[in-house]
Amino acid sequence: MKLQEFFQNKVVVITGSARGVGREAARQALAAGAFVALNGRDAATLEATRQNLGQTGRTLAVAADVSIPSEAQYLMAAVLAAWGRVDVLINNAGLSMRGEFADLSPTTIKTMIDANLLTAVWATQAALPALRLSQGRVLFVSSLAGVRGFPGVSLYSAAKMALTALQQSLRAEEGPRGVTASLVHLAFTENDPEKTVLGADGRPFQHHRRWSMTQQRAATALLKAVATGKERTVLTAQGRALVWGQCWFPGLLDWFVRSSGGKLHQVEEKHP
Ligand SMILES: NC(=O)c1ccc[n+]([C@@H]2O[C@H](COP(=O)([O-])OP(=O)(O)OC[C@H]3O[C@@H](n4cnc5c(N)ncnc54)[C@H](OP(=O)(O)O)[C@@H]3O)[C@@H](O)[C@H]2O)c1
Repeated sequence: MKLQEFFQNKVVVITGSARGVGREAARQALAAGAFVALNGRDAATLEATRQNLGQTGRTLAVAADVSIPSEAQYLMAAVLAAWGRVDVLINNAGLSMRGEFADLSPTTIKTMIDANLLTAVWATQAALPALRLSQGRVLFVSSLAGVRGFPGVSLYSAAKMALTALQQSLRAEEGPRGVTASLVHLAFTENDPEKTVLGADGRPFQHHRRWSMTQQRAATALLKAVATGKERTVLTAQGRALVWGQCWFPGLLDWFVRSSGGKLHQVEEKHP
């Protein structure tokens, strides 16, 4: 299916779209003819992104921290006030981490759940009445760490795995009411240079690491999952091998992950 066939004149809300994959998904949705509500916590960055994307008549910038229920409600109210409907919600806001479980501060643990699970919980609850009216779609952006727990990212993995449970329940509950819930597991994607992840001590830091997907490819996969309503998409051959290995050779996969000694999610920290 061509993206334009689905997205033409649809109202699309993308949480966490000030930069990275969310911003690229916004760019592609706009190119396919959608109206796009951009969201992030920093109003100035968000407005700069809106200006850079162009087509300002088709974009709305709503600064809101969607890990807070009232701010998620505010986001949806602003979109409804501007365009009167919500057809698609892409739960993209998220934050990764590095650090062993034993060393994680309470701040890091709570922030991982807030940023990666509760953002999607509150945004989806706030959007559901409008999505029921539009027979709309909701997408959850997960990771390969939402397929398997890897060393160094335990709480990120836990939150992303919880998204799968949420998406599956919602798909069953809301399917009969016409709302379709899907989930995409992204692989390592190229990052914006200013992107930060959270350390065990709760402090954000910038980092370098290998990546296997461009932001364009990741964003196209998200929009395709919305347009087709496919339940679950796993990206890259490596990702599909992970699912396959987990199903057919769990012992071998366990040995491989344990013997990697954290190398799979190793990053080079960058301090100013
Ligand atoms: N990059 C990867 O390799 C990769 C791999 C697998 C999965 N993913 C997933 O893909 C999604 C996008 O990743 P990315 O690499 O593009 O991330 P990113 O560059 O860090 O962008 C995250 C976006 O979310 C916003 N945000 C964070 N917390 C928020 C909150 N509470 N409320 C509203 N906005 C919030 C950020 O803006 P503000 O900081 O201004 O709020 C930013 O616009 C995430 O869910 C991530 O877990 C990424």
